[in-house]
Amino acid sequence: MEFRLRQRGRAEMEFLVDLALAARPLEARWRAEIEDAGLTADALPEDLDARHAVVERALARSDAFATAALVGDFASVEHGRAAQAAFDEVADALRPRLAELEAQGPATLEANPQLVPPAYWDGVWFHRTTGGWNGHPEMGFIHGELIHRHYVARTFPGDIFAQRARVLSRLPQAARAKVRTVCELGTSSGHYTVALQRTLPDAHITGVELSLPMLRQAQRVANAHGWPWRLVQGPAEATGLPGNSFDLVTSYILLHELPAEAANAVWREAYRLCRPGGWVLMADVTPYRALDRLAAWRADWLARRGGEPWWRESASMDHAEAARQAGFVDVTEGGLDGAPYPWVTLGRKPR
Ligand SMILES: C[S@@+](CC[C@H](N)C(=O)[O-])C[C@H]1O[C@@H](n2cnc3c(N)ncnc32)[C@H](O)[C@@H]1O
Repeated sequence: MEFRLRQRGRAEMEFLVDLALAARPLEARWRAEIEDAGLTADALPEDLDARHAVVERALARSDAFATAALVGDFASVEHGRAAQAAFDEVADALRPRLAELEAQGPATLEANPQLVPPAYWDGVWFHRTTGGWNGHPEMGFIHGELIHRHYVARTFPGDIFAQRARVLSRLPQAARAKVRTVCELGTSSGHYTVALQRTLPDAHITGVELSLPMLRQAQRVANAHGWPWRLVQGPAEATGLPGNSFDLVTSYILLHELPAEAANAVWREAYRLCRPGGWVLMADVTPYRALDRLAAWRADWLARRGGEPWWRESASMDHAEAARQAGFVDVTEGGLDGAPYPWVTLGRKPR
C-alpha cells in the first residue's frame, strides 16, 4: 500500500536502520576477541546460564561488544515508539483509506470480543515493541508496514519476504499442486499469508491470530489483492475451526512466541485441523541442539535482550517429536537452503 510518512517520522525510522547497519561490522571484532581469548564452542559449558557467564566474562572489556549491545538495546526500545509516532503523524490522512480497504471485501474477519488472551501473550512487549501485539489500535499497519517492511526487512541479512515463499518449497511439489484449503496459525499482518496465496493461487486460506489490530491489517492486504481470506481472531491452540478440514496447516515464526505447553497444544490442534493425508509445515527458530554452543549462546543472548520471553523454551524443545506425539507421521526437520534459519518441521497426517 502506498503511503508517505512525514519528514520527522521518516528520518527517525531511517536513523534506526542506519544505526543497526553501521553497528553490524562490530560483530566481526568481538568474535575475533572471543577467539583471541581461546574460547571455542566445544569448550563452553553445556548449561546455558553458565555459558552466558563465561562468554560475557571474556567480553567484559570489549568496546566492540559493549557498543553493539548498546545500539541493539537502543533500537529495541525505540523502534516501536518511533514507528507509532511516525504513524500518528499521518494517521488522519491514512485512516479513510485504511477503513475503505477493510470494508471493501472479499476477505472476512471474525472478531471475538469474548476472547480471553493467554497470559503468556497478553500485554507482553514481544521484541520490546511498545505495548506488544495489541499496543496501538493500528498496530497491524504500524507493525506490518513500518516496523517489518521498513525496519526489520532492511536490517535482516537477506530477503525476509522471499524467505517466506522459500519455506513452502519444503512441501513436495505433488502436494503443493493439490492444496486447496490452508489454515495459517499466527497470521499477524499477513506477510506469510501473501507468500502462501502466491505459491498456492487456488487455495482458500483461513488465518488465525490473537490480535485484532494485526488481523485488520491482514484483511486490508487481502482486500487490496482481491483474495477472500477468512480471518479468525482466536488462539492457535484452540481455533474452534472444524477438524479434518485443511489440506495444509502452517505457521511462519509463531512457535517461538509460545511456552512449550502451548506449543504442544498447537501441534495437537494442527493435527485435529488437518484432513487425513494432509500436511503440517511449521517454520521457526533454530533449535539449540542444531547449533554449536557459541551460536546457541548468541541466539539466546539476542532473545533475552530482544524481548523474546519464550524463545529459549521453544528452541530447547523438540518440535519434530512434538509433531510425532500429536500423531503426524513422516516428520522431517531442518534448516532452509543449507542455513540453520529458519528451521522447518514438516509432517503428514495418516490417511
Ligand atoms: C512473529 S509474528 C508471526 C509473523 C507472521 N506469520 C508473518 O509472516 O509476518 C507472531 C504472531 O503470532 C501471534 N500469536 C502469538 N501467539 C498466538 C497464539 N497462541 N494464537 C494465535 N496467534 C498467536 C502474535 O500475535 C503475532 O501476530
